[in-house]
Amino acid sequence: MKKIEAYIRHEAFDGIRKELLDAGIPSLSITDVKGSGRQKGITESYRGAELVIHLRPKLKIECVVDDADADTVTDAILKYARTGEVGDGKIFVIDVADAIRIRTGERGETVLQSHEAEEIPTGV
Ligand SMILES: Nc1ncnc2c1ncn2[C@@H]1O[C@H](COP(=O)(O)OP(=O)(O)OP(=O)(O)O)[C@@H](O)[C@H]1O
Ligand SMILES: [Mg+2]
Repeated sequence: MKKIEAYIRHEAFDGIRKELLDAGIPSLSITDVKGSGRQKGITESYRGAELVIHLRPKLKIECVVDDADADTVTDAILKYARTGEVGDGKIFVIDVADAIRIRTGERGETVLQSHEAEEIPTGV
């Protein structure tokens, strides 16, 4: 199993989400984060004053998939997140030792397989 952890611009997410849903990969988490890459900060003017913004808002995507699906996820992120401008973001691919579905205690890759929803509950 691999965890794809990506830091992207917010506007890239909708296309990535749709592509992953179409590929049968609905399970992921997103978080609003702030960060910096190698530029360390950019200069912006605010109310006439120049100031250096050190941390820029980004969206973090975390998605754990079978090894065979890792390229599907990274390809979707690259397709929608790359503009060619600095600040497009980063993707990290991380080995995952195990996964456990809390509801059932199942372990391993079976936890990752999507299936027809048997429930449309609250709290998913
Ligand atoms: N090594 C890292 N560890 C954790 N987060 C990172 C790392 N590098 C980048 N990020 C996150 O990704 C965001 C975007 O990074 P960014 O695209 O600016 O990287 P970069 O290396 O500066 O590339 P570029 O030159 O294309 O801007 C950062 O704001 C930060 O949230
Ligand atoms: Mg940068």
